[in-house]
This record gives sequence, C-alpha cells and structure tokens, in this order.
Amino acid sequence: MDPSVLCVFLILMSSASVSVSWKMTVSPEVTASRGEDAVLCCSISLNRQDYSEVIAVKWTARDAKTDPFFRCSVRNDSLEREHGCSASVLQYSLFGDPRRGELSLLISNVQLTDAGDFFCKVQLDGQKELHKKVHLRVKAKPQILSLSVRNQTCGEPSSASLWLKCEVEGNPLPKVVWLSSSKRLLEAQGRGFESGQWRWTACVPYLQKEDQVITCRAENSEGHAERSFPESNGLKMTTILVTVTVLMFLSAVFIFIICLRKRGRQQVSDPPADGPELQPVYSVIVCDPSVQVNFIQSTQQKVDTGE
Ligand SMILES: *[C@@H]1O[C@H](CO)[C@@H](O)[C@H](O)[C@H]1NC(C)=O
Ligand SMILES: *[C@@H]1O[C@H](CO)[C@@H](O)[C@H](O)[C@H]1NC(C)=O
Repeated sequence: MDPSVLCVFLILMSSASVSVSWKMTVSPEVTASRGEDAVLCCSISLNRQDYSEVIAVKWTARDAKTDPFFRCSVRNDSLEREHGCSASVLQYSLFGDPRRGELSLLISNVQLTDAGDFFCKVQLDGQKELHKKVHLRVKAKPQILSLSVRNQTCGEPSSASLWLKCEVEGNPLPKVVWLSSSKRLLEAQGRGFESGQWRWTACVPYLQKEDQVITCRAENSEGHAERSFPESNGLKMTTILVTVTVLMFLSAVFIFIICLRKRGRQQVSDPPADGPELQPVYSVIVCDPSVQVNFIQSTQQKVDTGE
C-alpha cells in the first residue's frame, strides 16, 4: 500500500475514534389543532456516554439560516442541577432535557400563523452543527370572523345593491352555505372569494324584509360554525339571563365563604371547652401540581407515540 494513502487512512481512523459520533432524529411532520400545545420532536444520540461539554440547542423557523427564535445551552457536567432550557420564550420552551439528548420544542397555544417549517439545530463542542427540518401543520375549526350587510359588490359587478357578507377562517379552508330562517338551504347560494390565507368571504344578495333571518354556516373536516343576521333578540336575552344568573350565584358563594371564615375565627378565639375540642378546618388554596404533572405526562405520551 502507498504510504501516503495509509497515512490518510490512519488519520481518518484516529479522528473518528476521538470525535463524538452522533445522530439526530426528528418527527418530520407534526399536526396540531389551533389552541392546543404542539411538541416538535427532536433528539440526538451519541456513541459515547462521557460527553461533558456544552450542548447548544437552537430552533429557527421558515429557513435553516435565519436567526433562531429560541436558543439555549447547557453544560453536560451534572444531571442534577436545573437546566435553564425549560424557561419559555414567548410561547416556546424546550420539552425535555438536552443533557439526555432531548431537544424537542413545545409550542403552547398553536395558531394558524405558526404553521410551516421549523429547524432543530444542535452543536456540540468542536463539532459541526447538525440540523433537521420539522414541518408543523395546524388544523383549525371554522370561525366566523364577520357577518354584515355591505354595499360594495362581491367581486364582480352585479345588479344587487346590498350584500350580506360572511368572512370565515379555518384550515382546511371552510365551505360556506347560506340557510334561511327555517334552516333550509337558500336557493341563491351567492358567491365568494379567498380573502386571505385560510380565509374565505362568501356573499349573497340581501333584500331587506321583515322577519328575515339568514344564517351563514361554515364547515370543514374539523367542525362547523354558524351565525345569523340579524342576530336574534332571543339569543341576546338568553345571554343576559345567563350572565345575571352566574353573577348572582358567584356572589352567593362569596358571601357563604366569608361567613364560614368568620365562624372559623370565632372558634379559634373561643377558649377550649371541656367537651371534645372543635378545630377549625382551613382549606389551603394552592396551585395543584398534579395538574401540571398530568399535562406533562400526556404530552410525553404524545412524544412517545410520535416517535
Ligand atoms: C451527558 O452526560 C451523561 C453522563 O453524565 C451521559 O449519559 C449523556 O449521554 C450525556 N449527554 C449527551 C447529550 O451526551
Ligand atoms: C352604501 O353606500 C352609501 C354611499 O355610496 C352610504 O352612504 C351608505 O351608508 C352605504 N350603506 C351601507 C349599508 O353600507
């Protein structure tokens, strides 16, 4: 064998045995519903157990080269101490411990605008940065953003002078149908146009008639939403009644609690009687930690099944 080839071979061999070999695993596509929390899974595994230097984690959005919106570094010298990576930056935090190779990103309260590509990046001491892409899809039930009478035409010119316009939002893009007062499909279903990403505006000619109620109903695979025009008075009355009832109930509970506390204090100040001693019972209001624990467990399951 040519000595120079052997030399290159040996250098390669030794550098391979000195350097840490590692690999990164991600879930390439994650789907979440609007308003939920999403975990973009990402982890690294190393071929050796004694890496004790810094693990630098970064997450970028849209493009691998943009500035990270989330970054955090931990030195892997002890598993005991708190690592600062679970602190949240806006709606983002790290889900897991980088010292165990867990680099997943937790996005709380996912919105449609969060959908897109994310990049999990990690750098170990003296190593090239590794990154992998995770695509986030966000599904959303339809929402009716507005329902009103307008006098601009709906796209093309037309003889109708007034239009009832209904703007809806959702993913997949919702389909709009118009219903009459008796909840039947209107004969004229009008037209519509895309008024933004995930948004659709539908219109029907509006003829002012007594007692005419028209309902805009938006549907997609995630659910449906409805709103009527004009908003019925019955609905308004129900809302007011419900609000008043809830307020009365809350004040009754409040007064009851105050009475209980007064009685409790009196019993404390009373000298102990001969009979069985009465002890006031205080209920301590704390944030229930089990709630958080449950949440973490359930999201952990998501991570487990997601992998
Ligand atoms: C961090 O160190 C521990 C041992 O202290 C080791 O088991 C673990 O694999 C290391 N983490 C990484 C990402 O190398
Ligand atoms: C329709 O347009 C006219 C002006 O062209 C305006 O005065 C009127 O208020 C509009 N009506 C509605 C319902 O928007």
